[in-house]
Amino acid sequence: MQALINGLQIAFTDEGQGPPLVFIHGFPLNRQAWTKQVEGLQATYRVIAPDLRGLGESQGTAGTVAMSQFAEDIHGLVEHLNLGPIVLIGHSMGGYIALAFAKAYPAALRGLVLVATKAGADFPEVAEGRRATAEKVRIEGISVVLKAMAPKMLSAKNLDPTMAAAVLEFMGHSKPEGVISALLGMAERPDATAWLADLRMPTLVVTGLNDILIPPHESEDLTNAIQGSQLKLIPKAGHLVAYEQGEAFNAALRAWLP
Ligand code: MLT
Repeated sequence: MQALINGLQIAFTDEGQGPPLVFIHGFPLNRQAWTKQVEGLQATYRVIAPDLRGLGESQGTAGTVAMSQFAEDIHGLVEHLNLGPIVLIGHSMGGYIALAFAKAYPAALRGLVLVATKAGADFPEVAEGRRATAEKVRIEGISVVLKAMAPKMLSAKNLDPTMAAAVLEFMGHSKPEGVISALLGMAERPDATAWLADLRMPTLVVTGLNDILIPPHESEDLTNAIQGSQLKLIPKAGHLVAYEQGEAFNAALRAWLP
């Protein structure tokens, strides 16, 4: 489906009926990363998964896109669909966006799920690296990002070639403009650590035990900082935990959902 949100055509999946769950994908991904949640949860929930601006099938804008802008787009979609309070699930960069959303629109949330993500800003050298990568993408295209990130998305012990090919296929849909915008947006994102103590909605933190992109200790830190939050560590899963261990992820979500 498509909707005009903040002046852009935003593509999204909207399946099933029941309490709304809104899924925000990570970088450089798109809503296909939530395929197993759309399949596994639509019998009892309304599952909504947009492509962030510039990624997947959504229209983009040139230049930096701040995490708060992505959060505004999510809010625009929530309003457009007249969803009422939602459970918001954000993976990695999607988690940075979910935290920006939770800060701006706490009353719109019935619950928050932070997946393989963290609250801290980039260290200066990491931010500089992202800007350099953005410049490379401008010159060489997205292959530079795919080569660097695809091998780190799944657990190192996962030798399933079909799954690895699927992940590469999802990432391959990313357009250079969207990849650049997101890289620049992540590089300048604020440190959200100070916001965590103010979060009052039920929160679940989930991560793959074998995540090497955002290691599990980051999820432990989030859980310690968010009052009343719960932590679920999923074995045999790397960064893309909701895809790699779809059933275990869905079961954890179902068991927790408020
Ligand atoms: C993601 O999966 O969204 C990225 O790894 C996040 C990041 O690069 O910080």
